[in-house]
Amino acid sequence: MSTFPVTRLRRLRRTESLRSLVRETRLSLDEFVLPLFVAPEPEPNAELPAMSRLSLDDLVTEADELAALGVRAVILFGIPEEKDEEGSGAYDDDGIVQRALRALRERAPRLLLLTDVCLCEYTSHGHCGLVRDGEVDNDETLELLARTAVSHVEAGADAVCPSDMMDGRVGAIREALPQTPIVAYSAKYASAFYGPFREAAGSAPAFGDRRGYQLDAANVREALRECELDLAEGADVLMVKPALPNLDVIRAVRERFDAPLAAYNVSGEYAMVKAAAAKGFLDERQAALESLTAIRRAGADFVLSYWTKDLARWL
Ligand code: PBG
Repeated sequence: MSTFPVTRLRRLRRTESLRSLVRETRLSLDEFVLPLFVAPEPEPNAELPAMSRLSLDDLVTEADELAALGVRAVILFGIPEEKDEEGSGAYDDDGIVQRALRALRERAPRLLLLTDVCLCEYTSHGHCGLVRDGEVDNDETLELLARTAVSHVEAGADAVCPSDMMDGRVGAIREALPQTPIVAYSAKYASAFYGPFREAAGSAPAFGDRRGYQLDAANVREALRECELDLAEGADVLMVKPALPNLDVIRAVRERFDAPLAAYNVSGEYAMVKAAAAKGFLDERQAALESLTAIRRAGADFVLSYWTKDLARWL
């Protein structure tokens, strides 16, 4: 039996003040992390400005701007001068991310510094771990990931974010760093939406793909198992990535686990909106705000987003 006309849901939608009063999900800058790419040489990207490579000098200027805008947290990705088979730039104490951390720590003491822990930006073959006989060797990679995380923390990182998807990486890092928050890319899918990132980071695999270590897009129970293992190994925060194709996974992780949950609104999701907006197909600001609201509504506590800086102006 319909309760209409007694019940009319449109009553609370009539004005912005009413809508605002009953809004269930709000966006605040506190819940956003801006990815930044640091490289020996700057390389602006006019179409996708958030994918620009920054030099160390640019980075400190950027930090000043972010502080003024109220952005609280960044996650750093490094593009090294040279790549090699072993990805040695990742765990070099004088590597690009380590130098960036020291510069930022000094210049912006209150900016939260997260780092991506992975070898793919540093290996000549572009895979996330060591390659032995044409395959990514899980167990041999663990020590290098832990070394990378330790060198980041020694240089000033507040939290480390392993994104390589090797089994046991959270445990290996936890053993080396008992006090450091680990934000684990737990449910990281093998995805077509990482394209612009790989362009910016120069990290596309030279052969094969990442399906041998990243999750199959068809699976959600497997994502929950990954989360369970990461928590058992000592992760503090879980992450689902990419975000929009996996809102159901975000919801499932939220319902199953009480640990804080992050979601990564990845480069391809950003690029799709940017490209459509450039063609006049949609409004960038509205599409971005709607996407980010949906990710938070699905259950993410915080979001890694290339719109974080724009958000500071929009909110
Ligand atoms: C490194 C890493 C990737 C992203 C974050 N960390 C690329 C990949 O796995 O290929 C993607 C982020 C994005 O697309 O915005 N492993």
